[in-house]
Amino acid sequence: MNIQENVDIKNYSTLKVGGVFRYFVTIKKKEDLPSLYAIAQSDVRYKSIPIFILGGGSNSIFSDGVLNVIATKIDIKGFEVIKEDAEYAEIRAGAGEIWDELVGKTVEMSLSGLESLSAIPGVVGATPVQNVGAYGAEVKDSIIEVEVFDTFDKTIKYLSNNDCKFGYRDSIFKGEAKGRYIITSVVYRLSKLSPKIPKYPDTERYFKEKNITNPNVKDVRDAIIFIRSNKLPNPKDIPNVGSFFKNPIISKDIADQILINYPNAKFFPIDERNTKIPAGWLIENAGLKGKSFGKVAVYDKNALVLINTGGATKEDIIKTKNEIIKIVQDKFGIILEQEP
Ligand code: EPU
Repeated sequence: MNIQENVDIKNYSTLKVGGVFRYFVTIKKKEDLPSLYAIAQSDVRYKSIPIFILGGGSNSIFSDGVLNVIATKIDIKGFEVIKEDAEYAEIRAGAGEIWDELVGKTVEMSLSGLESLSAIPGVVGATPVQNVGAYGAEVKDSIIEVEVFDTFDKTIKYLSNNDCKFGYRDSIFKGEAKGRYIITSVVYRLSKLSPKIPKYPDTERYFKEKNITNPNVKDVRDAIIFIRSNKLPNPKDIPNVGSFFKNPIISKDIADQILINYPNAKFFPIDERNTKIPAGWLIENAGLKGKSFGKVAVYDKNALVLINTGGATKEDIIKTKNEIIKIVQDKFGIILEQEP
């Protein structure tokens, strides 16, 4: 097992923020995880240094300076159809597979379930952690099992969809079991029947302009890739971690108050009492779209995204975040919550 020392975090962070990992190791098969834990416990160099699991680094913000961890990059590959009938196929994918390559493959196979989650950066193993969602689809709707390495008893376990306690951008992996499980593979159940067409103004406009009346999975994927490329900066060109804030859930009373001054405000009702308000809308209407805060800026095409305009540190990011939260709170009385 090749454990490297002092590895630059910026190469593992799409925000290009962070210092160095004290130790770094790549895991290519799940069978190597018990050995890693054995070495970490027995070798004096690594004693009491926590193992930290890295995904694609597209939804994480790392500290500056030396991070005293054994950063562990899960690079477990694999793509396998494990079960199939006339209506469904079950696919097992290794945690280290690039998410969008998996989506591309399932779309090529005319399987539906993941197409609305096209062009999201990151790896398969990260998708259950925050229950990745976009355009009306959430990965929880397709996941039937998550294979994990349980760091408590060092065995492989299988969590059902229910066990994962999925919520909006949330799961057991972020909550009560944080740090306990290392995801090694995920099983998705995908449909061979017609796809669920996203009902979003952006997708509807796209299909109308292209004269597509009955979109197939490939059409949906093409639409999402096109829409995202216009709204979300490619981290290869502009360092970012996608949405920086969650969309707040507010009461309908507060929404009604906002509507008095902003009759065009858009809400996404949740139930009789609560509604979701887009954080991007709040930030834009607080006058912050495109605004620069030193080395960090609010992206000019989408106020929900913060970008590193060059050499930002974690401190810069946190300061900017707090300023934005304060300005939005002063204006709308709503407290934004960080998403990555
Ligand atoms: N909006 C503004 N100004 C902005 C940005 C957005 O007014 O600067 C308004 C839009 O006009 C629209 C509404 O906000 O009416 C919603 O915008 P959009 O459809 O782009 O989605 P979002 O709510 O901003 C969420 C997810 C995204 C996901 C999109 C598409 C969260 C925190 N974000 O964004 O996820 O791609 O929906 O479904 O839920 C991510 O998590 O990194 C991410 C990109």
